[in-house]
Amino acid sequence: MARFWLCAGCTVFFLAFLILHSRFSGSSVLREFIFQISWRSEEILYKLDVGWPKHSEYFTGATFCVAVDSLNGLLYIAQRGDNIQKVLVFTEDGYFLRAWNYTVDTPHGMFAASTLYEQSIWITDVGNDFLMLWLHGENGTGPAKFNIPHSVTVDSSGRVWVADRGNKRIQVFDKDTGVWLGAWNNCFTEEGPSSVRFTPDGKYLIVAQLNLSRLLFVAAPPVGSIGYCSVISSIQLADQVLPHLLDVSGKTGAIYVAEIGAKQVQKYVPLKS
Ligand SMILES: *[C@@H]1O[C@H](CO)[C@@H](O)[C@H](O)[C@H]1NC(C)=O
Ligand SMILES: *[C@@H]1O[C@H](CO)[C@@H](O)[C@H](O)[C@H]1NC(C)=O
Ligand SMILES: *[C@@H]1O[C@H](CO)[C@@H](O)[C@H](O)[C@H]1NC(C)=O
Repeated sequence: MARFWLCAGCTVFFLAFLILHSRFSGSSVLREFIFQISWRSEEILYKLDVGWPKHSEYFTGATFCVAVDSLNGLLYIAQRGDNIQKVLVFTEDGYFLRAWNYTVDTPHGMFAASTLYEQSIWITDVGNDFLMLWLHGENGTGPAKFNIPHSVTVDSSGRVWVADRGNKRIQVFDKDTGVWLGAWNNCFTEEGPSSVRFTPDGKYLIVAQLNLSRLLFVAAPPVGSIGYCSVISSIQLADQVLPHLLDVSGKTGAIYVAEIGAKQVQKYVPLKS
């Protein structure tokens, strides 16, 4: 009870701040926060960076995916459409650097794998069969079977987290042995996960739900049994924004979300560091 009143106090303060703030920066901030406030029993972990990017005119297609190269402070974005640039490169600060449209036709997913000596970016062109190949998984509903494995990430203890979107669950495997460690379904009864990434501190798994236009922050379980899935925080985006894939900067914890419906990439920054 005490906690609720404290939160209600924060909410009033926040609203006053936002109404003032929105007079100067437009109403989209206000709309964003009203959605967040409606989930006030949850912690608010991230806020939209309204000034990012500085050149949104480069978003000319359906933005399907993003990849952060935090070593070099770069953000890669791939978009679909006819006669447009397919890959855009921005700095993490929001400045546009370059674009290209050769070698890429219908991008679906991407990831950055840079080292101190070499920058590289991997882009998948339609489909996500590469996940099936890596896991040697079969289509189906049982343990270690998949129905549209859509995104994958690895945690610091070597567990592989797979967004098994069609089966409305996340499945977890040991990276080295491939042993199935469990599945989470209870958070995804409405819609399966489209994207999975950890915050750099490993405390939360960030999950995108496409048609619900929602981001969930799920508590990351300690090493061992994964237990049940527990949502700590969420961000409700506007209807039809359709967040498809996201990536997280390992340095700053910033989240970049590729929104197919809104045709843009948005940046969310952690409130606490
Ligand atoms: C590449 O982009 C240019 C414009 O920037 C456009 O004229 C050209 O048609 C595009 N090529 C493809 C294959 O999309
Ligand atoms: C995979 O399995 C699901 C249900 O188990 C089914 O709905 C879907 O059509 C299957 N997909 C393929 C490519 O066989
Ligand atoms: C989202 O909605 C579209 C259109 O209704 C549907 O085809 C698609 O399967 C849905 N995707 C998910 C992840 O539920």
